[in-house]
Amino acid sequence: MDLQKETKKIKDMIEEDKKNVSSMKELNELKVKYLGKKGVITELNSKIKDVPNEEKKEFGMKVNEVRGLFNVFYDEEKINIETKELNEKLESEKIDITLPATSLTIGAPNILEKVVEDMEELFMSMGYDVIEGPEIEEDLYNFELLNLPKGHPARDSQDTFYLESDKILLRSHTSPVQARTMLKGKGEKPIRMVCPGKTYRRDDDDATHSHNFMQIEGLLVDEKVTLADLKGTFDVAAKHLFGENCKTRFRPSYYPFTEPSVETDISCFSCGGKGCSICKNTGWITISGAGVVNPKVLEMCGYDPKKWHGFAFGFGLERVAMLKYGINDIRTFYQTDLRQNVLFDRKEDK
Ligand code: DAH
Repeated sequence: MDLQKETKKIKDMIEEDKKNVSSMKELNELKVKYLGKKGVITELNSKIKDVPNEEKKEFGMKVNEVRGLFNVFYDEEKINIETKELNEKLESEKIDITLPATSLTIGAPNILEKVVEDMEELFMSMGYDVIEGPEIEEDLYNFELLNLPKGHPARDSQDTFYLESDKILLRSHTSPVQARTMLKGKGEKPIRMVCPGKTYRRDDDDATHSHNFMQIEGLLVDEKVTLADLKGTFDVAAKHLFGENCKTRFRPSYYPFTEPSVETDISCFSCGGKGCSICKNTGWITISGAGVVNPKVLEMCGYDPKKWHGFAFGFGLERVAMLKYGINDIRTFYQTDLRQNVLFDRKEDK
């Protein structure tokens, strides 16, 4: 066997094969062709047994030389191919940032919920607890304990939904939570609570009425509480909701559970008090009913009126949201048109 000729042949073959490799698959096929069990270099190497001893060393060196040649080629080509394949992959996955994006659906908090959370946070910062009460209520809490006994004319104004008997009803206001909280307090501890929640009345639905609406009730009971404390508290709430320039006033009113009772007004934020369509040319907008807790109510709910005094208030939440966000139809809140929330949210950002 002519060793020179054999190795030269293999070297030429490698040089030739180099030209035609373009993938890892092809490169690995070449590895089999040269170094596999029946590979050309492996076969050449196996012929060492037929070589006379004194030539074995040189033979081995020559075979190693071609093996090294192939290995260098293999390693270099492997890097080339892998880099090429990676670049091709990156190129094909390239994101065209100039393409117009698919529009995202923008969400926004429910506007009524936002007002509720806002009020809750404000009152919590003043030490009030946020309390929940049942929407299916007993006549006892909704009326009796609030000084509205059966046959009391003020019951008529509440247009109540009764369920099953005349003892169970859908609460017509959040005020029953006052009675429940006082009874829990057992006449022993002061109370500061707000209760936001749904209320129900047999009203026809129109732009300003809904058979289902929300109120937030407030109750504070302590040893020395006067109407002035209510005024101060209402002032803080009004400024928080409608801005620092908001002025407040009380007008005499009547509720069986408060004595004296008031309607609380804010100065019109739209015309600043001059008179416009929002305030019906009066310069003032009524926000809530309120008053000093009637001693009879304190007594029925277990608080000694000689020791304890309190004030209470009830806001219509839709009304606050309508004024704050310029919404003119209460039905907007219950028509599940989600776009409304986004619209009103954006309005607020301006
Ligand atoms: N519950 C009354 C209503 O729904 C509102 C109200 C008035 C609540 C005076 C009060 C209050 O707590 O003191 O019309």
